Amino acid sequence: MAAERTFAMLKPGVLSRRVVGEIISKIERKGFKIIGLKMMNVTIELAERQYAEHKGKSFYLDLLEYIASGPVVVMVLEADQAIKLFRLLCGSTSPEQALPGTIRGDYAMHTSINIIHASDSKESAVREIDLFFRPEELIDWEDGNQKWI
Ligand code: CMP
Repeated sequence: MAAERTFAMLKPGVLSRRVVGEIISKIERKGFKIIGLKMMNVTIELAERQYAEHKGKSFYLDLLEYIASGPVVVMVLEADQAIKLFRLLCGSTSPEQALPGTIRGDYAMHTSINIIHASDSKESAVREIDLFFRPEELIDWEDGNQKWI
């Protein structure tokens, strides 16, 4: 099966809570290959582009303000079926429905601050990776573990 790429963002507050390492551990333990990783501040303009599909919704302005409120950690993850499997690992958008054991199920209490973002389709993954990473920031590496994962 061809490896797929997806985009992930640990939203503002994750650094403050000192759980970046725990969440990245869950992602690595599942078997995702991290091929891009950085910490950054998101401007309102960048948040508008990331969340353009939600423009006009009741939570849109609060979402922009929140995403721009503090540093985030963004990642590009690679795996077979990366988009679907990473969304499963994150759990439902609403922490009320996210099962224990998922990232949102274990670390989030409210939809508006649901701790992590995951691309929802191939098109979104391509668009979001392109928004947040330059091609030279993505590192294609092999360690021989592929057959176990
Ligand atoms: P995310 O996966 O980053 O994609 C869009 C974000 O909008 C979502 O996570 C939530 O943080 C936020 N969001 C979606 N629905 C609601 C809602 N009903 N109320 C508040 N925030 C929401």
